[in-house]
Amino acid sequence: MPGTFNMLTAKNNLFKIDMKKLENRTVFITGGLSGIGKACALAAAGEGANLAIADLKSDEGLKAMEEIKSENSKAIFIACDVSRFTDTQTAIEKTVSTFGSLDVALNNAGIVAIGFLQIALIFEMLKFYFG
Ligand SMILES: NC(=O)c1ccc[n+]([C@@H]2O[C@H](COP(=O)([O-])OP(=O)(O)OC[C@H]3O[C@@H](n4cnc5c(N)ncnc54)[C@H](O)[C@@H]3O)[C@@H](O)[C@H]2O)c1
Repeated sequence: MPGTFNMLTAKNNLFKIDMKKLENRTVFITGGLSGIGKACALAAAGEGANLAIADLKSDEGLKAMEEIKSENSKAIFIACDVSRFTDTQTAIEKTVSTFGSLDVALNNAGIVAIGFLQIALIFEMLKFYFG
């Protein structure tokens, strides 16, 4: 069972202690209120992490934050636009001042854009396979 460790006592009796994998660890996730970031946030929340989520503020995002907090009440939201240096710096400072450490940083925030490069690569691939 995940999070369960076997321990031997001084008298060699085996007993189990339940411990979540990220207990007492601070996890900082950018873009943690949607998609991949949210899935990681929920997983980290379930493993007991001190969780700081830096994301753009939106009504939808705040609903996602409620969901994450219902999994782990220690989770905090920090309004942050990662394209602004000072926002990101402030978010990291807030994380460390709240939890006292930063152990894992998941730099996930971003956008998926289909641009000319991707279209050109798809076109090349189609040409390769179908002539
Ligand atoms: N989904 C895919 O197939 C795919 C493929 C390759 C790479 N990626 C990358 O993975 C990451 C997550 O993708 P996803 O599909 O989960 O995206 P998503 O759109 O579901 O989530 C992105 C999150 O990032 C936040 N965000 C966007 N710009 C931000 C900014 N400037 N500052 C702070 N937060 C910001 C959004 O509010 C959102 O919560 C992105 O960086 C994306 O480029 C995704």
